[in-house]
Amino acid sequence: MICIGIEGTAEKTGVGIVDSEGRILSSVGKALIPESGGIHPREAAEHHAATIVPLIEEALSESKLHLNEIDLVAFSKGPGLGPALRTVATASRSLSLMLKIPIVGVNHCIGHVEIGKLTTGAIDPVTLYVSGGNTQIIAFDSGRYRLFGETLDIAIGNCLDQFSRSVGLGHPGGPKVEELAKKSSTYIKLPYTVKGMDLSFSGLLTAAIRKYESGEAIEDVCYSLQETAFAMLVEVTERAIAHTKKVEVLLCGGVAANTRLREMLSIMSEEHYADFYMPPIKYCGDNGAMIAWMGQLMHKNGLVTDIEDTGIIQKYR
Ligand code: KG4
Repeated sequence: MICIGIEGTAEKTGVGIVDSEGRILSSVGKALIPESGGIHPREAAEHHAATIVPLIEEALSESKLHLNEIDLVAFSKGPGLGPALRTVATASRSLSLMLKIPIVGVNHCIGHVEIGKLTTGAIDPVTLYVSGGNTQIIAFDSGRYRLFGETLDIAIGNCLDQFSRSVGLGHPGGPKVEELAKKSSTYIKLPYTVKGMDLSFSGLLTAAIRKYESGEAIEDVCYSLQETAFAMLVEVTERAIAHTKKVEVLLCGGVAANTRLREMLSIMSEEHYADFYMPPIKYCGDNGAMIAWMGQLMHKNGLVTDIEDTGIIQKYR
């Protein structure tokens, strides 16, 4: 069984092809890089519309497969930007109708967890999923995936991106903030906003921008922003480990590229005798392979989506 997966919840279009054994036969993608400002949902949708077909062709050529050898279509059903999701769903439905094969709409966040497990060998981790659009602490418990904590406002990646744009460093902010943070070890006090098991980043963002505007060195503000935000993420992950007694920690999402976050999370994991895992960078950010692999897992478990898109996952067999 060969599954093609189409990802497009935000600014990146991804197409992946994965077989039922979990072999990734291809994973290609193209990100929209805005000339200024953040990601506009309509522009993301236009980007997907322009890139999905060429990326499908590229994925087929990389995997040396012909379109009629595909048995299943999977697409990212959400969460994400509305216009972007509609474009991906429409393209996927066309493919399913044209090839007369089943279609599966998958949850983007769980896709990150499952590709993380596939590529690292983790079996049952507490996952910290940190990206431009999402910040979640996820674990499998009592028969289903559960959210142990999440952001109450903006995602950590969005916080870093907005900070970066506000102080004139451009987009994406994460790598720029990281580079500058490496040049400092002066901590400026910023609000620490863990709320129960949830997190909030918007107050921290405003405070960091104010510190910069009041004349603090950019390196010190970047360092302090990272230390504060990452300590919050590690605290909630640690609490989820204490609660679930799991012995694996998985880090994924675009912000996983940050070496300081990895360091803090691996120290915490070690202190709890838990193994720390992170997928290769290619599979940390949004990608089509994670959608294809989720499609395989759901189909194996008898789940497909109604082609009329009632929004309800239906039993297949
Ligand atoms: O998962 P991802 O590729 O896609 C979306 O969420 O759309 O994540 C992108 C996010 C951006 O916010 C970017 O600033 C952040 O990942 N990022 C980083 C680093 N590299 C990318 N954040 C912190 N440190 C990095 N080195």
